[in-house]
Amino acid sequence: MKALCYGSLNLDHVYHVPELIRPGETLSVLSVEQHCGGKGFNQAVAAAKAGLSVTLAGCIGPDGEIFRKICAQVGVDTTCLSQVTTPTGNAVIQVSQRGENCILLYGGANREVSCAQIDRVLDQFQAGDLLIVQNEISHLPYLVSTGAARGLRIAINPSPMDPDITPDLLSAAQWLFVNEVEAKQLCGTTRPEDCLPQLNDLCPGGSVILTLGSDGSCYRGPEGTFYQPAFCVQAVDTTAAGDTFTGYFLACVLSGSSPEQALYTASKAAALAVTRRGAYDSIPWKDEVAQAQLSLADL
Ligand code: RIB
Repeated sequence: MKALCYGSLNLDHVYHVPELIRPGETLSVLSVEQHCGGKGFNQAVAAAKAGLSVTLAGCIGPDGEIFRKICAQVGVDTTCLSQVTTPTGNAVIQVSQRGENCILLYGGANREVSCAQIDRVLDQFQAGDLLIVQNEISHLPYLVSTGAARGLRIAINPSPMDPDITPDLLSAAQWLFVNEVEAKQLCGTTRPEDCLPQLNDLCPGGSVILTLGSDGSCYRGPEGTFYQPAFCVQAVDTTAAGDTFTGYFLACVLSGSSPEQALYTASKAAALAVTRRGAYDSIPWKDEVAQAQLSLADL
């Protein structure tokens, strides 16, 4: 079984602010940093750090060579990454002193993913292989429908939500990863008992994983419904916490863990990620996750 993460790569411009800015306000920042990120890149790195052998496909611009270097360092295969003339995608991220973030995206090279590129990449994979997608590249509906037609097992993180995310697209998910923002948009609620069945109806036969930040995470699938409390940590930057969770969860289930074990390990990895600044660089290695002594939040 091979694993392909087909998604975005962004240069993240991170502004640390006292509070997230409000409409009409002008705010001095506390510090500025640049990190490599993008949901596709982050999830591929998380899966690799969790022990999965993974290929990353997508598009970078002439300014995106750094992504190949980092992928080589963490063991992500980049043979399906294309360079185009459009600049690499970027994100302007505000991080508050409580660790909350909000993100503005410029798609850049991520919007140069073409149907022809998708066909060329998918030709290298076969039925039963894993395809991990998010929603920061062009032609996502084509990618998902072609992957499904070829029998790939698809993990969908419909983030950020936009009109490309249709019930038809979500129905192809074997694993559907949704956070509280997407749950609210898809189901009108974040109450697990209300939205897990609704989300499961969107991908019949598949599994739904709902992440709720400090309120923990839940799984509903053929094996049952499970709840995992969050770990207690001091959050400094929640960027890429969801990506860390997704990469770790998939690496765990594909290596034979039960959904309950996968929820536990993915939650612990995401908890460690929020204690560090940045996107991909905040993602812990498998050994760090195994060795970390963290206590669970009270229910
Ligand atoms: O999920 C976090 C990521 O979202 C950031 O790295 C940013 O690039 C945006 O894609």
